[in-house]
Amino acid sequence: MDTQTVVILDFGSQYTQLIARRIREQNVFSVVLPCTAPLNEIEAYKPLGLILSGGPCSVYDADAPAANPKVLELGAPVLGICYGLQFIVHHLGGKVRSAAKREYGHAEVALEDRSTPLFAGLPELLQVWMSHGDEALELPAGFRRIAISDNALAGIENPEHRIWAVQFHPEVHHTPLGPEILKNFLFTICGARGDWTPAHFIETTVAAIREKVGAGHVICALSGGVDSSVAAMLVHKAIGSQLTCIFVNNGVLRKNEFENVQKNLREKLGLNIVAVNATARFLERLAGVSDPELKRKRIGQEFIAVFEDEANRIARETGGVDWLVQGTLYPDVIESSSVKGPSQTIKSHHNVGGLPERMKLKLIEPLRDLFKDEVRRIGRDLGMPEEILGRQPFPGPGLAVRILGEVTPERVTLLQEADEIVVAEIKAAGLYTKIWQSFAVLLPVMSVGVMGDQRTYAYTIAIRAVLSEDGMTADWSPLPYELLKRISSRIVNEVRGINRVVYDITSKPPGTIEWE
Ligand code: XMP
Repeated sequence: MDTQTVVILDFGSQYTQLIARRIREQNVFSVVLPCTAPLNEIEAYKPLGLILSGGPCSVYDADAPAANPKVLELGAPVLGICYGLQFIVHHLGGKVRSAAKREYGHAEVALEDRSTPLFAGLPELLQVWMSHGDEALELPAGFRRIAISDNALAGIENPEHRIWAVQFHPEVHHTPLGPEILKNFLFTICGARGDWTPAHFIETTVAAIREKVGAGHVICALSGGVDSSVAAMLVHKAIGSQLTCIFVNNGVLRKNEFENVQKNLREKLGLNIVAVNATARFLERLAGVSDPELKRKRIGQEFIAVFEDEANRIARETGGVDWLVQGTLYPDVIESSSVKGPSQTIKSHHNVGGLPERMKLKLIEPLRDLFKDEVRRIGRDLGMPEEILGRQPFPGPGLAVRILGEVTPERVTLLQEADEIVVAEIKAAGLYTKIWQSFAVLLPVMSVGVMGDQRTYAYTIAIRAVLSEDGMTADWSPLPYELLKRISSRIVNEVRGINRVVYDITSKPPGTIEWE
């Protein structure tokens, strides 16, 4: 079965990814393209519908995003949102001006024509979220107003050319009936089938992998996290024993993680796993290193070296390796194609980058169309246990970026013990899956304490717990005092070498989630 696709053209709005998610929630596939995407690239998707997103510019700005106005003539129904509305008005011969009164935040909109398919089933007055400085003043020929706010025009249509547009944001949750508007666009106007389900995704992806790989051999770097595990499962379902997964113990995994991950993925899911305990190699490379970037680089390089050794060995045994599976997700894909200036490297992320070229491996990225929560849905459909799917993210360089200062075997053990208590208590409180990440950080700060009648002089643990949607921004989580009290007293009592526990109350920005 073909996949119906809604194409969203991004004009630089912070909400564009949200539009994509809202549409996918209706079981309709959507992709985000930069507004500068060439027409033939847009047409290649045979779009079921086209959405023009909002954006921070004015259509009259010298650097206004340069979309080709011909996108309005592709024949697919169009929905403009915010800047998208102004783009339509401006390019089809109407007039946009700087509004006398800017509208930011909550607003009330009157739907003047509820017989239009876009507003079917909606009440006369709508609570919406506005965020614009410009407004449409004169409409292009063939268009009429269908909604108005106190301050400005809020909706237009040209049913003959199948173009609709709203000035407000139906995709944000401050527009409570926004999903109804998007549903009207998808199902009534575009005629979507709503059949982009996990089962459909699995079926089409597995078939595509099978065809692509043929009789070739595939390797996958497993981390035990959600993304690499689900990616590996999809490939396993497609080609079975032609896939070998490599799981490396880099010496900075959490307590018992090396054994637990193997148990879960090999015994419960039947993946073919080569587990390599390279602890000694990694800790040797980390000896004497305190600089956060140097730690990350050393771990990244060593990982590539270990992985390459194993891959070469597997290649000798199987007669050659052709493919590498990567758990790349959709936000990374959008991020790398979006239009923006150079940004500073805050942290160099650790992955198997560079390896495919060196080993002449072709890439399989079965999750590159999915958001994180969609990956979990797929994993559930594949019958994977919640223990794997519900795992909080864990950085590639592991505990090394949570041990400030030098990483030594003793410090790794200290942090593993403290971290296990944090995770166990958060789980016991029923908060583990509600929190983005919760963990312990070992600080190289020693302080004086008293236990029994003894003076102690020992290390400090910081507890970090954050709420986030994507890791890009995060709020520190207000954990209950009782829980913090339990964690603190357990750590100090049970982990010899720690005599003080502090709680990190820094959000991101200005902090980052990991301390290094
Ligand atoms: P920061 O610390 O930059 O982290 O706020 C954002 C998210 O990314 C995770 N993280 C990593 N993940 N390799 C990874 O795969 C890395 O090198 C890495 N560094 C940070 C971090 O745990 C958080 O979820």
